[in-house]
Amino acid sequence: MITVESFLIQLVSSFQVARIYTGDHPQFTKAIDKVTSDLDGILKEKETLTIAIVGDEFASDDQIFFDLSKKIKDAINFLKSNNVEKITFKYPVSSDDIKSFVIYLLNDSDQGISVSDYLQAQGILSISVERINASYKNPARKDSSGISFNQSQISSPTKGSFRFYQQAYQTVFQPLQDIISGKAVDDKKVKSILISELDALRGIIPDFSRLADRAAQGPEIHVLNVSVLSMLLASKLGFAKSDVLDIGLAGLLHDVGKMYISKRILHKNTKLNKDEFLEIKSHTVLGAQMLLNYVDVLGFVPVVAAFEHHRRFDGNGYPRLRYARPAHQVSLIVSICDVYDALNERRSYKQDYPPELIYELMNKERGKGFDPVLLDKFFKIMGVWPPSTIVSLSDLRVAIVKEATDNILLPVVEIVSESETKERIDLSLLKGKLSIKGSLNPLSSGKDYVKFLK
Ligand SMILES: [Fe+2]
Ligand SMILES: [Fe+2]
Repeated sequence: MITVESFLIQLVSSFQVARIYTGDHPQFTKAIDKVTSDLDGILKEKETLTIAIVGDEFASDDQIFFDLSKKIKDAINFLKSNNVEKITFKYPVSSDDIKSFVIYLLNDSDQGISVSDYLQAQGILSISVERINASYKNPARKDSSGISFNQSQISSPTKGSFRFYQQAYQTVFQPLQDIISGKAVDDKKVKSILISELDALRGIIPDFSRLADRAAQGPEIHVLNVSVLSMLLASKLGFAKSDVLDIGLAGLLHDVGKMYISKRILHKNTKLNKDEFLEIKSHTVLGAQMLLNYVDVLGFVPVVAAFEHHRRFDGNGYPRLRYARPAHQVSLIVSICDVYDALNERRSYKQDYPPELIYELMNKERGKGFDPVLLDKFFKIMGVWPPSTIVSLSDLRVAIVKEATDNILLPVVEIVSESETKERIDLSLLKGKLSIKGSLNPLSSGKDYVKFLK
């Protein structure tokens, strides 16, 4: 029987053959004929076949092909360098179509015409290609604050926005629950609900000082926080709005594979043994496989992030891949936000993780676990002490952080007082005369000041 796997191996080896022989050489024709007949066999049964590149591997339907031969690495790099991350084949497909496609990839891709334009110009309707998202290739890494984002667009967590956040949490989790339970994700409605909620949440910094509320809301608040933080970071990096929303969706779904992990292991608070740890790690692959079923509705970005969000910038992490390749930028964004939120979560139940310690721990991983450019941007947005942190100042007064400035250690703060007129100080303008000594935990040393959080 012809399997998708054997077809992929044929396709990849046709790239190899095309590198050696010219387009009219019998060896090349033979290779193309083999690819075509395999594909024909598959398409006769299922009409269309979509192949996506997920991380380092090929994926199709709900399968990720981990065990293909060594040639795959080159082929995947090669396709990606040609802006191809998803290929759809439709029945009927001819050997001429396949041949033109392979020849274009090998020879003509540097002529300035995109692969989709080329296929269209050739009248090839049986093959279509897409990037998972075109603008990820070269997101404006230079500071592009003018493009879609500036600091003033970030609303600091006012009472309104916190309530709003809680409401969004309710609205988002129903459709999310539908996805998780495998119910009715057969139309665009789910995505449009999620996207419009995420759109409303763009620019908000989660309120990390409301630890008591957080504990009451349960573990799901984690994925909403990751989603909102990922959107903030993506905006700051200059991604277009639609990409920012897709990244928000990826944040929301990054841990979806945890539904397959037993609750006993997920909530175990003693050390995990080797098997339990292996099971936890599998949430990445399981999540990606599950989301592949919803590619039509949710797109590929959530698949990639679910698969790769525990991959490290230095190529380590999990799932372990045979050939270390840098993770997708979306995964690197989600991974920073994931760790940041997880460390904040610990503040509420395990030992205290004050923001200054979280910053220190994450910064130790700069260039190792985390992409240094992304990490610096992240803390530029949040500051070491994010808005709403209760802090004690060097003159022993207590203040609430209001917004970040260019100096991550010296934000704008508001002195805590009962009076109507609050003293607001931009610490970055005081040339070191006043600074932050440290933060107070809203559940213990800062308890009396929680009422001053807006
Ligand atoms: Fe995870
Ligand atoms: Fe997570």
